[in-house]
Amino acid sequence: KIIPVIMAGGKGTRLWPLSRATAPKQFIQFVGDKTLFQETLERVSDPELYEAPIVVTNEEFRFLVAEQARERAIPLAAILLEPVARNTAAAVAAAATLAADLFGKHTIIQMLASDHEILADKSYFDCIRIARDAAADGKLVTFGITPTEPATGYGYIEIGDALENGAHKVKRFVEKPALEKAEQMLADGGFYWNSGIFMFPVPELIAELQEYAPDVLKAASKAVSKASRDLDFTRLDADHFAKSPDISIDYAIMEKTSKAAIVPSPFKWSDMGSWDAVWKSGARDENGNVAASNTTVVNTRNSLVMTHGVHLAVQGMDDVAVIASEDAVYVGPLKDSQNVGQLVKMLASTS
Ligand code: GDD
Ligand code: MG
Repeated sequence: KIIPVIMAGGKGTRLWPLSRATAPKQFIQFVGDKTLFQETLERVSDPELYEAPIVVTNEEFRFLVAEQARERAIPLAAILLEPVARNTAAAVAAAATLAADLFGKHTIIQMLASDHEILADKSYFDCIRIARDAAADGKLVTFGITPTEPATGYGYIEIGDALENGAHKVKRFVEKPALEKAEQMLADGGFYWNSGIFMFPVPELIAELQEYAPDVLKAASKAVSKASRDLDFTRLDADHFAKSPDISIDYAIMEKTSKAAIVPSPFKWSDMGSWDAVWKSGARDENGNVAASNTTVVNTRNSLVMTHGVHLAVQGMDDVAVIASEDAVYVGPLKDSQNVGQLVKMLASTS
C-alpha cells in the first residue's frame, strides 16, 4: 500500500487576508464545507490503496492538523513537526525516513501538497495506480498537467518515451522557468506542468538524496532518529534538522535525477496559490463572478468577492478581487494576484 505524505507547512501569503500566518490557506474553507487540507486527507483515505498518512507540518499548525483530521474521522500515522522550515526536500526526506521506520524499507510514498484543488474522479485514481506501478519499478513519478498559459510559478516537465504501464520517461524537468523560457516551452510543445504530487519508492528516493542532496538527507535522517514523541506528535530534533539546506524537492532532486517518470494527467487540478486561481476554479455565475455568501454584487463582472467577516457590497467593478477577513480587506485587480505576497511582506515590515 501507498503511504501518503502530506506537506502542510507552507504559509500561503498570496491568499492574504484569508490566508494568515496563524491559519494559512490549507486550513481554511474557501468554497464548500471542507478545508483544502481535509479534502487532501479524503483523497488518500481509500484503505485499498493507502495506509494512514504522515502529515509534515510545524509547531504552530499542529493542533489545526490534529483537529481537522479528527473532524473527518481520519486517523493519521504521524504528525511530524519541523522545528524550523527547511523547505520540501528536507520535509520529504524526514517523512521518507519515518515511513521506512514505521512501514518497512521498501514502501512507496505519495507526496502531496495540502493546498490544491483536485477533482478526485476515476481518471485521477487511474493516474494514481499507473504512478504506483511505475514507482514499484523504481521510478520517481510526477503527474503532468496540460499547461494553459506560460505560468512561471510551476515546474515544467518534458515528456519522453513511453514506459510499459502508461507512464513515460522524463526528458527534462525545469523548475519555475523565467517567462521567456516558459513561453518557449509552450510553443515547442511536449511539456507539462508539474502538479506537485509525487510517487516515490523510498529506497530510490533515499539513493537520489544521497547522490544529489546528501546534506539534506543527513540532517533529516538524523533528526528522525533523534526525534521525540509526545502524544500524536513526532518532533524532529532541532539541531540536526536545522543543518539541512533550504531547498525544494524540485530543485534538489527532480531537476537532476535520471529516474524521473511522468504520468500525463487529465484530471482537474488547480494550485490554489493566488486569488486568480481561486476565481478560475470557483463556480462562476452568468456575469463571470465568483461571489461567496454574505456578499451583494451588482453591475460587476469577472470578479471574486469573498468574506469571512463583514458583509461585502460591490458595484460597478470588473476583473477585481475583493476579499474581507475579520480584520482586514484586500482589493486589487485579479491579474495582479501574484503580487499579493509582496504586499504582505510590506505589511509585515510596516506593522
Ligand atoms: N512541511 C512543510 N515544510 N511543508 C512545506 C514547506 C516546508 O518547509 N514548504 C512548502 N511546504 C508545502 C506547502 O504548504 C505546499 O503544500 C507544498 O509544500 C508545496 O510547496 P509550495 O511552496 O506551494 O511549492 P510551489 O507551489 O511553489 O511549487 C511546487 O508545486 C507546483 C505545483 O503547485 C513545485 O513542485 C512545482 O514544480 C509545482 O509546479
Ligand atoms: Mg504551491
